[in-house]
Amino acid sequence: MELEDIKNRALAEIESALDKSELDKSRVKYLGRKNGEITVLLKSLPDLPLEERRESGPLVQRLKKEIEEAIDFKEKELLSASDQEAIDLTLPGKKIKVGHLHPLTQTEDEVRRIFSSLNFSVIEGPEIEAEYYNFDALNIPENHPAREMWDTFWLKPTRNQRLTTDGGRKLLRTHTSPVQVRYMETHQPPFQIIVPGRVFRYEATDASHEINFYQVEGLMVGKDVSLANFKFIIEEFLKKFFAGKKIEFRYRPSYFPFVEPGLEVDIRLTAGGRQATCLRQGYGKAKQGTRSKGKWLELMGAGMVHPRVFEAAHYNPRDLQGFAFGLGLDRLAMIKYNIPDIRMFYSGDLRFIEQF
Ligand code: FA5
Repeated sequence: MELEDIKNRALAEIESALDKSELDKSRVKYLGRKNGEITVLLKSLPDLPLEERRESGPLVQRLKKEIEEAIDFKEKELLSASDQEAIDLTLPGKKIKVGHLHPLTQTEDEVRRIFSSLNFSVIEGPEIEAEYYNFDALNIPENHPAREMWDTFWLKPTRNQRLTTDGGRKLLRTHTSPVQVRYMETHQPPFQIIVPGRVFRYEATDASHEINFYQVEGLMVGKDVSLANFKFIIEEFLKKFFAGKKIEFRYRPSYFPFVEPGLEVDIRLTAGGRQATCLRQGYGKAKQGTRSKGKWLELMGAGMVHPRVFEAAHYNPRDLQGFAFGLGLDRLAMIKYNIPDIRMFYSGDLRFIEQF
């Protein structure tokens, strides 16, 4: 009778527990190690006459198990109820921040896409370059004053390198032009390629000069390739790249040891070009719009491939002609997005990057 009474009370209390602390109270009351009602009963068993002990023992054990199971069950029920309370389905969701490509990467992708559509192949070359490819093979021998045109980061030779027969020093390439020779050494014309890539120069930085920037080399070689082909390709490219923007470009004679004749292409936004929207936040008024309409920016060097460069690639210069160009990718992006200072690209400032 007593067991029946304990069972009814215990199960009712457990069932009606509103939270974990109430449930714990029931646990202590019935199963507590010192004075729990079931514990007391179990402790008193040895004092009972044998017959009675045999009868009551299993009953008390079964009741203990029943109460334990009821407590476990209730505990899980309370836990899942509190979980549900924590999730408020009416709250607005957390906004997931999605990253995106850097404006320079976007620009490079666009350049690759346009030149591919003009039937150019996209080639890559090493950033750590041999002195031979960066200079000598491009008709810029050692001690020639033209070397001063590219301030160079030289690499310390490794011990193994000193033992090699080429003996040449290594450097961080100062332009993408060395890939011209590398490509011609292993391919036969006619072909047309572009070579996007990072280049390095040991020079003072300013609004349009970085020590680390990007170039896109172009090279088209065949029997009758002429400057007229260059002009057509470049104007076609610029039209597609700046679709919807009013730009002007001009050609200027220039000198590069690896082309003859050589020229440079400048570019500027014409009337109506929008002001630098990328500077809405963070960069203050001082820089705003300094790269505005009317200011020419040198975009690329170009020219007809010099016979000595063909010779370095073991081509016969009498049989072939070609044009080459090297355009500044950062400058292209500066004009497109109206960015007044090249250093912003490399600032790592998210207020700037997130606007593209
Ligand atoms: C060259 O690097 C030649 N290799 C280009 C060339 C290729 C000429 C093939 C003829 C035939 P230059 O040093 O001018 O040339 O650089 C080419 C372009 O890179 C420049 O017009 C400019 O747009 C960009 N550029 C040059 N220096 C920097 C710099 N420090 N920071 C950002 N862009 C630069």
